[in-house]
Amino acid sequence: MLTWDEEVKPSLPPAAQNGLAINRGVQHSPSAAASTPNAVSSSAPVAPVARRVNAADKRIINGQTDVNQLVPFKYKWAWEKYLASCSNHWMPQEVNMTRDIALWKDPNGLTEDERRIVKRNLGFFVTADSLAANNIVLGTYRHITAPECRQFLLRQAFEEAIHTHAYQYIVESLGLDESEIFNAYNEVPSIRNKDEFLIPFIEAIMDPNFHTGTPENDRTLLKSLIVFACLMEGLFFYVGFTQILALGRQNKMTGAAEQYQYILRDESMHCNFGIDLINQLKLENPHLWNAEFKAEIKDLFMHAVELEYQYAEDTMPRGVLGMNASMFKGYLRYIANRRATQIGLETLFPNEENPFPWMSEMIDLKKERNFFETRVIEYQSGGALSWD
Ligand SMILES: [Fe+2]
Ligand SMILES: [Fe+2]
Repeated sequence: MLTWDEEVKPSLPPAAQNGLAINRGVQHSPSAAASTPNAVSSSAPVAPVARRVNAADKRIINGQTDVNQLVPFKYKWAWEKYLASCSNHWMPQEVNMTRDIALWKDPNGLTEDERRIVKRNLGFFVTADSLAANNIVLGTYRHITAPECRQFLLRQAFEEAIHTHAYQYIVESLGLDESEIFNAYNEVPSIRNKDEFLIPFIEAIMDPNFHTGTPENDRTLLKSLIVFACLMEGLFFYVGFTQILALGRQNKMTGAAEQYQYILRDESMHCNFGIDLINQLKLENPHLWNAEFKAEIKDLFMHAVELEYQYAEDTMPRGVLGMNASMFKGYLRYIANRRATQIGLETLFPNEENPFPWMSEMIDLKKERNFFETRVIEYQSGGALSWD
């Protein structure tokens, strides 16, 4: 006769952890089995007994509570961020692009340097948000065992689709060569280098044979979360956002700038959620955060700053819009310091100041009144539906 350890157990953890099977405290690892109240005895021959969820038993990773039961809440910060994201809902086609189209078509509307910024910018972003979505849907989601956090990740995944839609909408509005822009991540080295840095961290956690539950694999997931929240959404987006918003501040490409402003607001929420997730995971698993791991993360930060700076130089070979690449060196170091300290690392570049303080105002956009004062957006639900 087969024992649980020999045959049944190896087939259960992935499905149970993913929520593909009803998870009623199925054990994932022998160490967890020994330490949690819902533990299934290693001699248990059949599926364990269903238990009501105790919020205190929830864990960010390797949890044993049912991932399909959203409440009782433990991680209220995740639920609150989910609600805040929903209340910031917007759609790209609501933004008027008429002035951008006229400016783009006017031979004297923009300088060559400004046009380069727009095209390079879209070249990065049209695929970046698909990578971000893949990372959530195919990677992160199944490893997170806190349902409140999964709820936010579902909303985030939809927002990544909206962002890809927004970039596509700008490309289409301006009549740009779609295949050139969408293939830029293969053709433009400064874009390709950023994506090549990111992709191994997506692939590692997408691998169907990858499961958390060992210190090594838990660190692999934690590293991936840090790379995405702090370095992709929290750093790799910022040269591009700043450039397009700088155009908008000079009353150029105001439709694109308005779209970017909404995206920036969403991304700063994604980044803040990711940082909360990382810090909670660290709190629950302090053994993961050792000196060797911290040194590895610090090296990744340094590498990312360098790649983003190369991107800044490539997109701005000369000074433009009152900015130049070297100002971005300071800005990227300033942002990297902030991300590092937010996850408990020391400041990486002492004494850096923010050369673009106006960017902070952009991040704090309120949905009722946007920077360009073009319109008021309010979303209604329920009451507007008609069933005739
Ligand atoms: Fe996005
Ligand atoms: Fe995002």
